[in-house]
Amino acid sequence: MNLLEAVLQSVTQLPPFPAVIQRVLQLVEDPKTSARDVVEVIQYDQSITANVLMVCNSAYFALHRPVHSLAEALVRIGFNNLVEIILTRGTSFLFFQACQGYQLPSGELWRHSVACALLSQILADRLKQKKTPIQFTAALLHDVGKVVLAGFVRDHLEEIRTRVQEENLSFVGAEKATLGIDHAELGGRIAESWNFPPDIVAGIRYHHTPFLAPEFHDLVSLTYLCDVVALMAGTGGGADGLSTDGAKEVMEQYALAAQDLEEVIADLNGRMNKVEGFLKVP
Ligand SMILES: [Fe+2]
Ligand SMILES: [Fe+2]
Repeated sequence: MNLLEAVLQSVTQLPPFPAVIQRVLQLVEDPKTSARDVVEVIQYDQSITANVLMVCNSAYFALHRPVHSLAEALVRIGFNNLVEIILTRGTSFLFFQACQGYQLPSGELWRHSVACALLSQILADRLKQKKTPIQFTAALLHDVGKVVLAGFVRDHLEEIRTRVQEENLSFVGAEKATLGIDHAELGGRIAESWNFPPDIVAGIRYHHTPFLAPEFHDLVSLTYLCDVVALMAGTGGGADGLSTDGAKEVMEQYALAAQDLEEVIADLNGRMNKVEGFLKVP
Protein backbone atom coordinates (compact mmCIF):
# COMPACT_ATOMS: atom_id res chain seq x y z
CA MET A 1 0.00 0.00 0.00
CA ASN A 2 1.49 3.38 -0.91
CA LEU A 3 1.24 6.45 1.30
CA LEU A 4 -1.80 7.94 -0.44
CA GLU A 5 -3.67 4.64 -0.20
CA ALA A 6 -2.80 4.45 3.51
CA VAL A 7 -4.15 7.99 4.05
CA LEU A 8 -7.40 7.21 2.23
CA GLN A 9 -7.73 3.94 4.09
CA SER A 10 -7.42 5.72 7.44
CA VAL A 11 -10.51 7.82 6.67
CA THR A 12 -12.55 4.72 7.43
CA GLN A 13 -11.29 4.91 11.04
CA LEU A 14 -13.07 8.21 11.66
CA PRO A 15 -16.12 7.87 13.89
CA PRO A 16 -19.36 7.83 11.88
CA PHE A 17 -20.93 11.21 11.26
CA PRO A 18 -24.11 11.50 13.36
CA ALA A 19 -27.19 10.77 11.25
CA VAL A 20 -29.23 13.49 12.96
CA ILE A 21 -26.66 16.17 12.12
CA GLN A 22 -26.46 14.88 8.55
CA ARG A 23 -30.23 15.26 8.27
CA VAL A 24 -30.08 18.81 9.67
CA LEU A 25 -27.51 19.71 7.00
CA GLN A 26 -29.78 18.36 4.27
CA LEU A 27 -32.71 20.33 5.70
CA VAL A 28 -30.88 23.65 5.79
CA GLU A 29 -29.89 23.19 2.11
CA ASP A 30 -33.56 22.99 1.20
CA PRO A 31 -35.22 26.41 0.88
CA LYS A 32 -38.61 24.83 1.65
CA THR A 33 -37.44 23.76 5.12
CA SER A 34 -39.21 25.38 8.05
CA ALA A 35 -37.78 25.78 11.53
CA ARG A 36 -40.33 23.23 12.74
CA ASP A 37 -38.81 20.57 10.42
CA VAL A 38 -35.46 20.96 12.16
CA VAL A 39 -37.00 20.78 15.63
CA GLU A 40 -38.87 17.64 14.51
CA VAL A 41 -35.59 15.94 13.56
CA ILE A 42 -33.63 16.77 16.69
CA GLN A 43 -36.29 16.66 19.39
CA TYR A 44 -35.78 12.97 20.18
CA ASP A 45 -32.01 13.34 20.54
CA GLN A 46 -31.47 14.01 24.22
CA SER A 47 -27.87 15.09 24.04
CA ILE A 48 -28.50 17.62 21.25
CA THR A 49 -31.54 19.00 23.09
CA ALA A 50 -29.54 19.29 26.33
CA ASN A 51 -26.73 21.04 24.46
CA VAL A 52 -29.09 23.53 22.81
CA LEU A 53 -30.61 24.44 26.16
CA MET A 54 -27.20 24.74 27.80
CA VAL A 55 -25.87 27.10 25.11
CA CYS A 56 -29.12 29.13 25.03
CA ASN A 57 -28.82 29.67 28.76
CA SER A 58 -25.11 30.52 28.64
CA ALA A 59 -23.51 33.96 28.76
CA TYR A 60 -23.32 33.93 24.95
CA PHE A 61 -26.98 34.84 24.52
CA ALA A 62 -27.38 36.66 27.85
CA LEU A 63 -31.13 35.99 27.91
CA HIS A 64 -33.05 37.41 30.86
CA ARG A 65 -35.24 34.34 31.40
CA PRO A 66 -34.07 30.72 31.05
CA VAL A 67 -35.08 28.64 28.01
CA HIS A 68 -36.76 25.32 28.84
CA SER A 69 -37.56 23.65 25.51
CA LEU A 70 -36.51 23.48 21.85
CA ALA A 71 -39.71 25.24 20.77
CA GLU A 72 -38.95 28.07 23.18
CA ALA A 73 -35.31 28.18 22.02
CA LEU A 74 -36.48 28.63 18.45
CA VAL A 75 -38.62 31.63 19.39
CA ARG A 76 -36.02 33.23 21.65
CA ILE A 77 -32.80 32.85 19.64
CA GLY A 78 -34.12 32.28 16.08
CA PHE A 79 -33.65 29.61 13.45
CA ASN A 80 -30.05 30.39 12.36
CA ASN A 81 -28.71 30.46 15.91
CA LEU A 82 -30.51 27.24 16.74
CA VAL A 83 -29.07 25.43 13.71
CA GLU A 84 -25.59 26.79 14.44
CA ILE A 85 -25.66 25.46 18.00
CA ILE A 86 -26.81 22.05 16.76
CA LEU A 87 -24.03 21.90 14.16
CA THR A 88 -21.30 23.24 16.44
CA ARG A 89 -22.03 20.87 19.30
CA GLY A 90 -22.86 17.95 17.01
CA THR A 91 -19.48 18.07 15.24
CA SER A 92 -17.25 18.92 18.22
CA PHE A 93 -16.34 15.25 18.78
CA LEU A 94 -14.21 15.42 15.62
CA PHE A 95 -11.92 18.18 16.80
CA PHE A 96 -11.03 17.65 20.44
CA GLN A 97 -8.04 15.39 20.05
CA ALA A 98 -4.56 16.86 19.70
CA CYS A 99 -3.36 17.18 16.10
CA GLN A 100 0.20 16.07 16.63
CA GLY A 101 1.71 16.56 13.20
CA TYR A 102 0.28 20.07 13.06
CA GLN A 103 1.53 20.71 16.60
CA LEU A 104 -1.89 21.78 17.77
CA PRO A 105 -2.52 20.83 21.40
CA SER A 106 -5.76 19.15 22.33
CA GLY A 107 -8.70 21.53 21.78
CA GLU A 108 -6.79 24.01 19.57
CA LEU A 109 -8.19 22.77 16.25
CA TRP A 110 -11.63 23.06 17.83
CA ARG A 111 -10.96 26.68 18.89
CA HIS A 112 -9.77 27.46 15.36
CA SER A 113 -12.82 25.78 13.82
CA VAL A 114 -15.27 27.68 16.02
CA ALA A 115 -13.36 30.94 15.41
CA CYS A 116 -13.77 30.41 11.65
CA ALA A 117 -17.47 29.66 12.04
CA LEU A 118 -18.01 32.82 14.12
CA LEU A 119 -15.98 34.83 11.59
CA SER A 120 -18.28 33.63 8.82
CA GLN A 121 -21.06 35.55 10.61
CA ILE A 122 -18.98 38.57 11.57
CA LEU A 123 -17.51 38.96 8.06
CA ALA A 124 -20.83 38.31 6.31
CA ASP A 125 -22.35 41.14 8.38
CA ARG A 126 -19.49 43.48 7.59
CA LEU A 127 -19.52 42.61 3.89
CA LYS A 128 -23.32 42.93 3.81
CA GLN A 129 -23.75 39.31 2.71
CA LYS A 130 -26.53 37.03 3.87
CA LYS A 131 -25.57 34.85 6.84
CA THR A 132 -26.36 31.19 6.20
CA PRO A 133 -25.95 27.96 8.18
CA ILE A 134 -24.25 26.51 5.07
CA GLN A 135 -21.49 29.11 5.22
CA PHE A 136 -21.22 28.59 8.97
CA THR A 137 -20.83 24.82 8.49
CA ALA A 138 -18.21 25.08 5.74
CA ALA A 139 -16.14 27.39 7.97
CA LEU A 140 -16.65 25.15 11.02
CA LEU A 141 -15.54 21.98 9.23
CA HIS A 142 -12.96 23.40 6.78
CA ASP A 143 -9.98 21.67 8.47
CA VAL A 144 -11.64 18.29 9.08
CA GLY A 145 -8.98 16.71 6.83
CA LYS A 146 -6.35 17.60 9.46
CA VAL A 147 -7.98 15.22 11.93
CA VAL A 148 -7.04 12.30 9.67
CA LEU A 149 -3.85 13.68 8.15
CA ALA A 150 -2.23 14.72 11.48
CA GLY A 151 -0.64 11.31 12.14
CA PHE A 152 0.84 11.16 8.62
CA VAL A 153 2.12 14.74 8.86
CA ARG A 154 3.75 13.87 12.21
CA ASP A 155 5.55 10.89 10.64
CA HIS A 156 6.78 12.96 7.67
CA LEU A 157 7.25 16.37 9.31
CA GLU A 158 10.96 16.59 8.51
CA GLU A 159 10.35 15.94 4.84
CA ILE A 160 7.44 18.39 4.70
CA ARG A 161 9.51 21.10 6.40
CA THR A 162 12.45 20.51 4.07
CA ARG A 163 10.17 20.94 1.07
CA VAL A 164 8.77 24.18 2.52
CA GLN A 165 12.30 25.55 2.85
CA GLU A 166 14.02 24.13 -0.20
CA GLU A 167 11.22 24.00 -2.76
CA ASN A 168 9.57 27.22 -1.63
CA LEU A 169 6.24 25.46 -1.10
CA SER A 170 3.51 26.43 1.33
CA PHE A 171 2.97 23.90 4.13
CA VAL A 172 -0.19 22.64 2.45
CA GLY A 173 1.69 22.35 -0.87
CA ALA A 174 4.43 20.35 0.85
CA GLU A 175 1.77 18.08 2.41
CA LYS A 176 0.52 17.22 -1.04
CA ALA A 177 4.01 16.76 -2.48
CA THR A 178 4.97 14.43 0.38
CA LEU A 179 1.79 12.51 1.18
CA GLY A 180 0.07 12.61 -2.23
CA ILE A 181 -2.85 14.61 -0.82
CA ASP A 182 -3.32 17.69 1.37
CA HIS A 183 -5.77 18.18 4.24
CA ALA A 184 -8.12 20.35 2.17
CA GLU A 185 -8.61 17.75 -0.59
CA LEU A 186 -8.84 15.01 2.03
CA GLY A 187 -11.44 17.03 3.95
CA GLY A 188 -13.45 17.38 0.73
CA ARG A 189 -13.37 13.62 0.25
CA ILE A 190 -14.40 13.02 3.87
CA ALA A 191 -17.30 15.47 3.47
CA GLU A 192 -18.37 13.64 0.30
CA SER A 193 -18.24 10.30 2.06
CA TRP A 194 -20.59 11.76 4.69
CA ASN A 195 -22.97 12.88 1.91
CA PHE A 196 -22.57 16.57 2.72
CA PRO A 197 -24.20 19.01 0.28
CA PRO A 198 -21.85 19.96 -2.62
CA ASP A 199 -21.43 23.60 -1.54
CA ILE A 200 -20.07 22.57 1.87
CA VAL A 201 -17.80 20.01 0.18
CA ALA A 202 -16.43 22.79 -2.07
CA GLY A 203 -15.91 25.17 0.87
CA ILE A 204 -13.80 22.51 2.60
CA ARG A 205 -11.93 21.27 -0.49
CA TYR A 206 -10.90 24.71 -1.80
CA HIS A 207 -10.32 26.58 1.47
CA HIS A 208 -6.62 27.01 0.61
CA THR A 209 -7.10 27.35 -3.16
CA PRO A 210 -10.29 29.40 -3.64
CA PHE A 211 -9.18 30.33 -7.19
CA LEU A 212 -9.47 26.65 -8.24
CA ALA A 213 -13.11 26.22 -7.18
CA PRO A 214 -15.30 25.49 -10.22
CA GLU A 215 -18.44 26.82 -8.49
CA PHE A 216 -19.80 28.18 -5.18
CA HIS A 217 -17.24 31.01 -5.42
CA ASP A 218 -18.75 33.28 -2.75
CA LEU A 219 -18.89 30.51 -0.19
CA VAL A 220 -15.39 29.22 -0.98
CA SER A 221 -13.84 32.71 -0.91
CA LEU A 222 -15.47 33.57 2.39
CA THR A 223 -14.29 30.27 3.90
CA TYR A 224 -10.75 31.11 2.76
CA LEU A 225 -11.02 34.58 4.29
CA CYS A 226 -12.36 33.19 7.60
CA ASP A 227 -9.38 30.82 7.81
CA VAL A 228 -6.84 33.57 7.13
CA VAL A 229 -8.41 35.93 9.68
CA ALA A 230 -8.76 33.14 12.28
CA LEU A 231 -5.02 32.42 11.92
CA MET A 232 -4.23 36.14 12.20
CA ALA A 233 -6.35 36.20 15.36
CA GLY A 234 -4.03 33.59 16.86
CA THR A 235 -6.11 30.41 16.58
CA GLY A 236 -4.89 27.19 14.99
CA GLY A 237 -1.37 28.39 14.19
CA GLY A 238 0.63 25.20 14.61
CA ALA A 239 3.29 23.66 12.38
CA ASP A 240 1.79 25.20 9.23
CA GLY A 241 1.03 28.59 10.82
CA LEU A 242 0.68 31.27 8.18
CA SER A 243 2.53 29.18 5.60
CA THR A 244 -0.36 29.11 3.13
CA ASP A 245 -0.72 30.12 -0.50
CA GLY A 246 -1.95 33.71 -0.51
CA ALA A 247 -4.99 34.32 -2.69
CA LYS A 248 -4.32 37.96 -3.48
CA GLU A 249 -7.43 38.23 -5.65
CA VAL A 250 -9.66 37.12 -2.79
CA MET A 251 -8.12 39.60 -0.39
CA GLU A 252 -8.46 42.37 -2.99
CA GLN A 253 -12.05 41.37 -3.71
CA TYR A 254 -12.97 41.97 -0.07
CA ALA A 255 -10.78 45.08 0.26
CA LEU A 256 -10.56 44.87 4.03
CA ALA A 257 -8.35 47.60 5.48
CA ALA A 258 -6.13 47.07 8.54
CA GLN A 259 -8.69 48.98 10.60
CA ASP A 260 -11.50 46.61 9.43
CA LEU A 261 -9.42 43.57 10.36
CA GLU A 262 -8.68 44.98 13.80
CA GLU A 263 -12.38 45.51 14.44
CA VAL A 264 -13.29 42.06 13.09
CA ILE A 265 -10.68 40.39 15.31
CA ALA A 266 -11.81 42.40 18.36
CA ASP A 267 -15.40 41.28 17.71
CA LEU A 268 -14.21 37.68 17.30
CA ASN A 269 -12.24 37.80 20.56
CA GLY A 270 -15.31 39.10 22.41
CA ARG A 271 -17.44 36.25 21.06
CA MET A 272 -14.74 33.64 21.70
CA ASN A 273 -14.56 34.69 25.36
CA LYS A 274 -18.29 34.07 25.64
CA VAL A 275 -18.15 30.62 24.02
CA GLU A 276 -15.01 29.57 25.91
CA GLY A 277 -17.20 27.67 28.38
CA PHE A 278 -18.43 25.26 25.74
CA LEU A 279 -15.09 25.04 23.98
CA LYS A 280 -13.60 23.15 26.89
CA VAL A 281 -12.22 19.72 26.04
CA PRO A 282 -14.38 17.17 27.86
FE1 LIG B 1 -6.60 24.34 6.30
FE1 LIG C 1 -7.82 26.39 9.09
